[in-house]
Amino acid sequence: MEITIRSPFNEKEWEDYYDLRYRILRQPWKQERGSERNEGDATGIHFGLYENGVLKAIARLDINPTREGQVRFMAVENNSQRKGYGKQVMLAIEEYCKMYTINEMILHAREIAIPFYESLGYEIIEKSHCLFNEIQHYLMQKSLRKSEK
Ligand SMILES: CC(C)(COP(=O)(O)OP(=O)(O)OC[C@H]1O[C@@H](n2cnc3c(N)ncnc32)[C@H](O)[C@@H]1OP(=O)(O)O)[C@@H](O)C(=O)NCCC(=O)NCCS
Repeated sequence: MEITIRSPFNEKEWEDYYDLRYRILRQPWKQERGSERNEGDATGIHFGLYENGVLKAIARLDINPTREGQVRFMAVENNSQRKGYGKQVMLAIEEYCKMYTINEMILHAREIAIPFYESLGYEIIEKSHCLFNEIQHYLMQKSLRKSEK
């Protein structure tokens, strides 16, 4: 099995990218198509994990003005969760950040995803927003300096 992590590179791949984001993070809450995108998509850095050329996991990295890396829209295809793909995408993002000396990472985790981020060394800072009046989020952070042991 060939695994590659990279940005989508043609129109079809971008369609698949936003479709996965929509199906995993918006559709189950009956949100409209299009709601999965925002203005940050123009400046964000996009990561896709391809299994034999088929997109299985995605995430966007934003570099905030304070030079923090913020991970957003992390999602793994339904039948491919708990196979380590989410972890591989997160590690690729962290490697990218280290390359650009972005050493502080933050993200807003859905409550259900907290054990996933904790397994990667992220710590809860505080309760943050509640999406669609339903999905409680928690601000989490990780210093990449610590993990350079
Ligand atoms: C949450 C999500 C991104 C995790 O990605 P994943 O590919 O399923 O997770 P991985 O297989 O890489 O998990 C790595 C480790 O995280 C931990 N972990 C992941 N999911 C977990 C869960 N539901 N409960 C407890 N631990 C979990 C485990 O330690 C796991 O290692 P293990 O499988 O060897 O035990 C993915 O399941 C997903 O897209 N879920 C739906 C959308 C979502 O909630 N996105 C997050 C938005 S903030």
